[in-house]
Amino acid sequence: MPLNKNTLAVVLAAGKSTRFNTKKCKLLYTVCGQPMILYPLKVLNQLKIDSTLIIGYQADKIKQTIKNARIKNVSFAIQEEQLGTGHAVRFSKNYWNKENILILNGDSPLLKKDIIQNLLNMHADKKADVTFLSAHALNPFGYGRVIKTDTKIEIVEDKDCNEDQKFTTLINAGVYLFTKKFLEKNIDLIKKSSKSGEFYITDLVNLASSQNLKVQTIPVAYDDIRGVNTLEELWAVEQVKRSELMKYWMLKGVRFDLAQSIHLDYDVEIGTGSFIGAGTLLLKGTKIGKNCNVSALSIIEDSIIGDNSNIRSHSIIQQSKIGENSIIGPFARLRKDVIIGDNVEVGNFVEIKNSKIDNGTKLKHLSYIGDSKIGKSVNIGAGTITCNYDGFEKHETTIEDGVFVGSNNTIIAPIKISSEAYTAGGSTITKDVPSKSLAIARAKQENKRDYASKIKKNNTKSKTKKTSKNQNNLTLNFIGAVKDKESERVL
Ligand code: UD1
Ligand code: MG
Repeated sequence: MPLNKNTLAVVLAAGKSTRFNTKKCKLLYTVCGQPMILYPLKVLNQLKIDSTLIIGYQADKIKQTIKNARIKNVSFAIQEEQLGTGHAVRFSKNYWNKENILILNGDSPLLKKDIIQNLLNMHADKKADVTFLSAHALNPFGYGRVIKTDTKIEIVEDKDCNEDQKFTTLINAGVYLFTKKFLEKNIDLIKKSSKSGEFYITDLVNLASSQNLKVQTIPVAYDDIRGVNTLEELWAVEQVKRSELMKYWMLKGVRFDLAQSIHLDYDVEIGTGSFIGAGTLLLKGTKIGKNCNVSALSIIEDSIIGDNSNIRSHSIIQQSKIGENSIIGPFARLRKDVIIGDNVEVGNFVEIKNSKIDNGTKLKHLSYIGDSKIGKSVNIGAGTITCNYDGFEKHETTIEDGVFVGSNNTIIAPIKISSEAYTAGGSTITKDVPSKSLAIARAKQENKRDYASKIKKNNTKSKTKKTSKNQNNLTLNFIGAVKDKESERVL
């Protein structure tokens, strides 16, 4: 029978994150878009194991993060003063309501469900008192080392290792399963380390071993248990997570160009046949459809891109939705709450905010569209600006189906341009335009015959005057420079 039902998890999350040197609790930092502390909690949820979180440093922020993520079946215990991992475990005593207690560090975001399940199964199979995870690390420094002899298994912390032990590559992963019976007897027997003044949870393993109890370790892949004590380790762990995510999507038929330069968040989804260009960031909440092309250096956050759409390079899309077969960019910015239909073309240097653009519409160059509703098959000429803000309030622009807005239009909201109307290039549109009409709102052009030659003549005259003046200036400057040189010499 799997042990899950008889197991309570204790997650250690009270530490001060001193080695981060940022004053912010390390467990609040994200790994591929998700705060670190949520990783172990989600794994435990999947395994249907309730957990008690030991919090202390920045406890409220941790609590809030867990609440925001709607993680269930978590209770909290407080470790006011952080005197080490062994000390932290003491504060969970009141919650020990199951036969087995699984204790894990909060700073191991790469842990997988199957690994924990295997730990539980092996513990039950071998009727062990203590089972813990270990791994071979090429660079074991900083981790506790697992030292095995014929009769014993011990964990020696990095600071306490002798010369031989320092080069042992088998490290403690910080995930332990104890029987409740053992914990109750031994938790108060942990002694303070004379070197660090802390109580180590790893002493529990040593206590079990010295009592000739059944202690076993399960070696797993180092990349599954990497701990995060520094910002450099956070970077390394995120690299691993990103590679895992990318591998998953590659196997589903997604092509990443220069994969090492692309960032993916944990919940991003990408349809088969899609291409993701170099240096692109696909951030939390983003869903890319099938056969899409997202070109280099684009940033897409919390947005949905429909099948066969093409996001050209350097485009930024946030909290927006794009339909199928549409083209966005290069250098487009969809700022927030933008809904784009199918077969729409949004070209270079177009910014759109809080607007709806319906099927088949084109806005191909240098425009700002804010708080607007634009219908089907509309053409928005280059340089068109919707003036949505009067300094106090935002106003809406409505442009109905089939409208043709000429280039360089300034459309002063609130305003409505009704279906199939035309506006002439260079117009400042201040009044509603009725359906099928043409609005021209620009100064009338006047052509003055032969005026150009007059201008030229005048220009030539003034140029000659200026040139002789400039020459005089040059001469004066030159004399000045010579004078300065002479005075320098004198000095
Ligand atoms: C710990 C292990 C080490 C192991 C490594 C694996 C100990 C003494 N050492 O070292 O053998 O190789 O993890 O990654 O446990 N915490 C508290 N209260 C405290 C101190 C820490 O809740 O007073 C929490 C931290 O928030 C963290 C976890 O315990 O989530 C582990 O603490 P950390 O300081 O990261 O331990 P390591 O030095 O990494
Ligand atoms: Mg650690």
